[in-house]
Amino acid sequence: MGYMEDIEVMVDKQDLTLPPPAKEPERQYYFIGKCREIIRRKSEEAGRPLYACSVCFGCQMNARDSEKLAGILRSIGFEETASEDADFVIYNTCTVRDNANQRVFGRLGALNGYKKKNPGMKVALCGCMMQEDLVIRKLQKSYGFVDLIFGTHNLYKFAELLYRCYTETGMIVDIWEDTDKIVEDLPVERKFSFKSGVNIMFGCNNFCSYCIVPYVRGRERSRAPEEIVREVRNLAADGVKEVMLLGQNVNSYGKKQGEGFMSFPELLREVEKVEGIERIRFMTSHPKDLSDELIQVMKESKKICRHLHLPLQSGSTRILEKMNRRYTKESYLALAEKIRREIPDISITTDIIVGFPGETEKDAEDTIDVIKKVRFDNAFTFVYSKRTGTPAAAMEQAPQALVRENFDKILACVQETARERVRRFEGLTMPVLVEETNEQDSAFLTGRLSNNTVVHFPGDASLIGQIVDVTLDRCEGFYYIGKKA
Ligand code: 5AD
Ligand code: SF4
Repeated sequence: MGYMEDIEVMVDKQDLTLPPPAKEPERQYYFIGKCREIIRRKSEEAGRPLYACSVCFGCQMNARDSEKLAGILRSIGFEETASEDADFVIYNTCTVRDNANQRVFGRLGALNGYKKKNPGMKVALCGCMMQEDLVIRKLQKSYGFVDLIFGTHNLYKFAELLYRCYTETGMIVDIWEDTDKIVEDLPVERKFSFKSGVNIMFGCNNFCSYCIVPYVRGRERSRAPEEIVREVRNLAADGVKEVMLLGQNVNSYGKKQGEGFMSFPELLREVEKVEGIERIRFMTSHPKDLSDELIQVMKESKKICRHLHLPLQSGSTRILEKMNRRYTKESYLALAEKIRREIPDISITTDIIVGFPGETEKDAEDTIDVIKKVRFDNAFTFVYSKRTGTPAAAMEQAPQALVRENFDKILACVQETARERVRRFEGLTMPVLVEETNEQDSAFLTGRLSNNTVVHFPGDASLIGQIVDVTLDRCEGFYYIGKKA
């Protein structure tokens, strides 16, 4: 029996005439049953299915959380729609930079318009942005049409909150400060049939001085290795070929759990044993915790992809110190060199923040120096965004004009070096996991190399989800155009 069928049996077992059980996840199975009754009745009244729209902002963690939301929505009887003119709309929000917040507030106005036309409509907000007091106060004051607000720690309670949303009046706000609880075995609706994210840990303990994540995602907690491997086995049985192990800092997996808990490289070895899984990725690695053992495991592995995302943030030791990153320019360079020496075909990608408080032209030159020396395959370059409550918010901010200037220089350098670096496979034939039909030209397919580089090539949709050999004819900056070998 498959994972979703197992859950179905558990939902059917609940006696809905009794009060809800206290134990999780049984409690949520009970509320899934309760919600089903409501949605069935509403849909009969309306003479049509009820539609739910789920919108996701932010990172891979949020994308995985949104698959869990979609799993519950599907399980209780909603039809999925991309239109926000729906019966139920949920935004899974991000707050890592301020522009993510602005986008959410910008779009909420339109939802209010839809709700005026369809008074039965429900609007829900969840995710990182909801863990900020200021945001909650603003929503309570000026966005009274929002029905349900919850945060990052109680997502597993979505079915219960939905039930309350349909049986109570007024805005329901359920935000937890933190949690040490991890609830397993709830429904999930994957976006891709052939690949999936797998949470291995939640939260972050690093407190980089610019970053809001530790405040909104709470303290680091690792999932039990047996649970992770069980999930990966279930995914493989369901046709998944690629898993991406997710955590804010996967290299510290298990460390807080004490002696005897599995380390990240050991976990990788266990995941590698799962038959049917052909590619293993992971995100994100903190440079300060990347061990020789990890490099060794990657080197020996046939399944772990030739890609490391290793956020640099800044190439200036002075700024790195103010950022509380706990490595230096030199130690980062030495690490990158060691990785390249051990695994020559690997891609290293990175994140860079430009305009951290106090950053000068000379600091930006240090960042450019690192980019030139490491030759990243790709780098996500962000303008520093001041986040309320973080230590950096209290530091003297860098002048706008200088930030702009440094940003342009760094971006130009990234583009030039990446162009040069990515094309090293031109003319070779390499395996590509086909992900989707090309968005611009439906005669083309889009997939990825093991090193995460995107490849477009002519082909039909029947190849989606398969790993095929593609000759990489032409490199166009960050991607390849090829043909099936
Ligand atoms: N401003 C700009 N970029 C940030 N990041 C995290 N916090 C901030 C901030 N306050 C970037 C980092 C991180 C990525 C996910 O987002 O580069 O690696
Ligand atoms: Fe933020 Fe640093 Fe934790 Fe990454 S490691 S989530 S940048 S605090």
